[in-house]
Amino acid sequence: MKPEEVSKLSLGIYPTPLERMERLEKRLETGPLYVKREDLCGMGLGGNKVRKLEYLVQEALEQGCTTLLTYGGPQTNHGRLTVAAAVRVGMKSVLILDGERPERMSGNLILDGLMGADLRFVGEVDSEGLDREAYRIRYEQKVQDLTQKVIEEYERRGEKVYVIPVGGSNERGALGYVQMIPELMKQMEEEGLESATLVCGAGSMGTFAGLWLGAAYYHAPIRVAGISINPQTDFTKESVCEYIERAGRAYEMDVDCQPEDLEIYFYTKNAPYAGLGYNVPDPDTMSYIRMMAETEAIFLDPCYTGKVFHGYVDLLQKGKISPRGAIFLHTGGVPGLWAEEHMSALQTMLGGREDSAEERLNRLLADMAREQRELTESMETMKTRGQDRTYRFKEQMGRKLMNSQIYAKLQAYGLVEKGE
Ligand SMILES: Cc1ncc(COP(=O)(O)O)c(C=O)c1O
Repeated sequence: MKPEEVSKLSLGIYPTPLERMERLEKRLETGPLYVKREDLCGMGLGGNKVRKLEYLVQEALEQGCTTLLTYGGPQTNHGRLTVAAAVRVGMKSVLILDGERPERMSGNLILDGLMGADLRFVGEVDSEGLDREAYRIRYEQKVQDLTQKVIEEYERRGEKVYVIPVGGSNERGALGYVQMIPELMKQMEEEGLESATLVCGAGSMGTFAGLWLGAAYYHAPIRVAGISINPQTDFTKESVCEYIERAGRAYEMDVDCQPEDLEIYFYTKNAPYAGLGYNVPDPDTMSYIRMMAETEAIFLDPCYTGKVFHGYVDLLQKGKISPRGAIFLHTGGVPGLWAEEHMSALQTMLGGREDSAEERLNRLLADMAREQRELTESMETMKTRGQDRTYRFKEQMGRKLMNSQIYAKLQAYGLVEKGE
């Protein structure tokens, strides 16, 4: 079946606007610049997951399911929109969320709660003696066990559960963004844009993969550039290519994908857009969130769109994308601004009551402990594999990296002044 033949629900308000950002153009002395407002698509405060859910929830209903179950971090936007979709079509919803239940509900968790979602937390797993891969496998097992338990619980009550993967990023979910391409082509024509570079976030990759596939399938004059939002991501261009090819095969799109064809900016020193970590507050991202708010009264979020906008502006300023037809894809996520960790980080900037030094130090220590564990684990793996020289090199590099990261974090958490 071709993408146009696959049935879907109507959950969002489409087409979403394609807006000029004239004040940003003035600030950057460039232009014309555009933003595609996926954040304004209506349902549940909007965002990129709505297009994917239109396809996924349709399939859930076709299969006679009564409950949607999905996964994510505690602040998952995808989770919030899955719950919203469930509410709209009269289904129940369960979110399986990473880590322990937080002491205080904030950001997306408040919206999930208000919509009546069943929130289950995976908890922590004992990482002692495990390298990163072993830890990942054990954690994944815990997620699967919990999923099984929840499904059985729901089935005993006569419900049928439809499981949606992280970010809604499977073959079917990607169709949502394949199908945004004809919509954008029409809008480009109306604006007199002959070609465009579309800059989007790259998390679980469904949005990037769908757009790339759609641009190839519809022969659109659109170059898709993805900005990775997680400096520790496991994705590579190869794995994204495999995903694109799987989705292409599933929906009869005869598209060839080579890793070198993909433009994805993973974290590097010269492309530091992903910041300090997944959903970790950082002042750089915040300064771009502020730039967009000050120039266009458009709000971005600290976990995804702030980072993507950082990449968008930097690529423009370095001349890597042409200003004529540079489109920033606003994928939503604004409730993240009011997540506990980001609210705290914002207090100094906005003149609110600052967290005490002890509170900031505790957050910093927890964060560093996690990163140190990851580094030690990967070094341990090398040691056990006997890669001695690489191990020693990595150990030295690791120390240097830790030092600079500790310093960056001390700054980010306001525990040392800039230039100290
Ligand atoms: C606001 C926002 N932007 C971008 C993304 C990344 O999209 P994807 O997971 O399809 O790569 C997400 C994913 O959760 C998101 O919530």
